Amino acid sequence: MNDKEFLSLRNKIFKYLRPLLGAKLFAHIRGVEAAAVQLAAASSNYGLIQKCAVAALLHDAAKSFTLDQMQRVVKLSRGKAFPKEVMQNAGLLHGHVSAIIARDKFKITDRAIISAIKRHTLGRPDMNALEKIIFISDYIEPNRRFKGIEELRGRVYTALFSYGLDCALLIVVRDKIKTLAAMNIRIDKTLPAIEKRLTSKITKNISDIL
Ligand SMILES: [Fe+2]
Ligand SMILES: [Fe+2]
Repeated sequence: MNDKEFLSLRNKIFKYLRPLLGAKLFAHIRGVEAAAVQLAAASSNYGLIQKCAVAALLHDAAKSFTLDQMQRVVKLSRGKAFPKEVMQNAGLLHGHVSAIIARDKFKITDRAIISAIKRHTLGRPDMNALEKIIFISDYIEPNRRFKGIEELRGRVYTALFSYGLDCALLIVVRDKIKTLAAMNIRIDKTLPAIEKRLTSKITKNISDIL
């Protein structure tokens, strides 16, 4: 994608999502884009920065749909449903439906972008760089307001520049697990699996940042 194509796609996405999402959610996707572009800049990979912007803007494209609307989009587009545990859970299903919008409405075929949109809620143990960046950005974007967020953001950026993306991701995954546990919310097995995989991959001593 050249710069002209990128800007034209970005404008089309804005036009479509601004009325669909409402002010708060629209600010959120802009915030995720800003955070994702900052995180991706550390890679010095211009192509990755552009992909991060696109995935960030579209990751919650279906978030304002009702569960029924999401289910209908899935059935129309795929001809069949996802497993029941996904179809009945808007928190999981909106990622899949947002990926369908990216593919069908904006003709996005890049697998990494589609996967990052699809999996942004739970992640998976073997995420690629784009998936990791969207997962982190969704949690720390500038509109997020929760106790300790500024300190957390600082640690994430320090970890990224000192130790790399996996370390930044580990900080977010641990914070997410801690926050869900404190709220007595059931923790899906994917988060501990991601934490385990990252801990085994990171061989440097990073205790100063965790
Ligand atoms: Fe989401
Ligand atoms: Fe989001």
